Amino acid sequence: MNRPEKIARPDRCPAMSYTEMLEADTRPVPAFLLEESTREMSTEPIPVDPYISEAFARLERERMWPNVWLFAAREDEMPDPGDTVVFEINDKSFLLVRQEDMSIRAFYNACLHRGRKLRTKSGPTPNLRCPFHGFTWNNDGSLKEIPCQWDFRHLEGKDMSLPQVRVERWQGFVMITENPDIPGFVEWLGPAASHYEPYDFENRYTGMWVKKRIAANWKATAEAFMEAWHSIATHPQLLPFLGDANSRYDLIGDHFNRAITPSGVLSPHIKGKDQHFVLEKMNEFSGGNDATTNRRFNAADEPGAFDPDDPLLARKLLAEAGRKGFAEQYGYDYSNASDAEILDNFTYNIFPNFSPWIGYLPTLVYRWLPGTTPDWCTMEIRLLFPTPKGQKRPRAVECTVIPDDQPFAWAADKMGAALANVFDQDLGNLPHVQTGMKTLKSGRMELGAYQESRVRHFHETLMKYIRGELPAAKA
Ligand code: FES
Ligand SMILES: [Fe+2]
Repeated sequence: MNRPEKIARPDRCPAMSYTEMLEADTRPVPAFLLEESTREMSTEPIPVDPYISEAFARLERERMWPNVWLFAAREDEMPDPGDTVVFEINDKSFLLVRQEDMSIRAFYNACLHRGRKLRTKSGPTPNLRCPFHGFTWNNDGSLKEIPCQWDFRHLEGKDMSLPQVRVERWQGFVMITENPDIPGFVEWLGPAASHYEPYDFENRYTGMWVKKRIAANWKATAEAFMEAWHSIATHPQLLPFLGDANSRYDLIGDHFNRAITPSGVLSPHIKGKDQHFVLEKMNEFSGGNDATTNRRFNAADEPGAFDPDDPLLARKLLAEAGRKGFAEQYGYDYSNASDAEILDNFTYNIFPNFSPWIGYLPTLVYRWLPGTTPDWCTMEIRLLFPTPKGQKRPRAVECTVIPDDQPFAWAADKMGAALANVFDQDLGNLPHVQTGMKTLKSGRMELGAYQESRVRHFHETLMKYIRGELPAAKA
């Protein structure tokens, strides 16, 4: 494909841009990938106070968390009537229950008697019986039974059904909000909601799920996954096949931003290496790493096809290997899937704490949950796998909790050693980011104008909630 004359942009990495890679794709790419969406942002330093201050965390709990849509569960965690999921965030506990008609209700997880949590664990149940004195509700939230009814005559005629929380189902994700007035999830999220449609997310299942406590603020932890350019220092093993500096950063509306980082290309930081090197290193990374990929490619398989001068050749060959591998593994036809959608890293973030990637390969999903102090959080990592063609969607695997004193590598049998190592590299920074921020003399951080624009955008939206500009007043 002919590419338009390259326009030099002094504010971008001088290497090939992601959009140019898309234009050279071996298949047509969806319009939503080609669209670039940046905006003029301030380059002022960012204060560290929001990351370290208990007062700020309280403002988040009061003004932000109850007023946004939150990823509470995957439908594959609760496929059958009577299945429940306990979702806890900050000091709130929510109980999601699959109904007989397959709809999902979410309740405040507290007994109306003396407030005990009705359930502390997810799992199936015939009804919701409080373990303290036995008040019992039906799974639809209507009151079933009060033991020693004679002592509660004063409740007769009073509505004792469990209060509900708003629920919406989207692409197999169960979203909840405590705010009855904000727009529905798809409108609230904006155009990115449609980016998920080609990839059959409803039919995916949670095939890998780990969580771990991280000694850093939830925002600092989330932001460590908002830009690719830390790879140069943090993940040097990825540079032979990761277009870190070629990445695109897009900001769309208040509640969505994304980075797209190409795979199967040599990092602009590496000089003097050819396409064989890219293939070899990517194979080394994904070889045996069956939790994440099936894209091994042996250049010797296609002897005539190898032209070391095409800077995207390895990418094209790896994508072709991916198409074939996925077709064998899952039984679907990927022949029209673009190289980008087979290979690339789509770190999509939905404000505030939810990052479900898109694409055809098993996709990562991150969720960050704040701790009881600003100095720690919990990070969850899942992989959503396509349900093999003709099979029933499997139930989600149980979440594996990694002990506080163990690295992600402790769960290497679940995550794959190479992937676990990448997260351990990120984790190697985070506790020192948290303590370092408290030490910064100026109390402010200096961010890159483009590659860290998502961090700035994330803060901009958060501050709109803190200042009361969001959620927007009801019309
Ligand atoms: S607190 Fe639930 S029955 Fe008493
Ligand atoms: Fe990283």
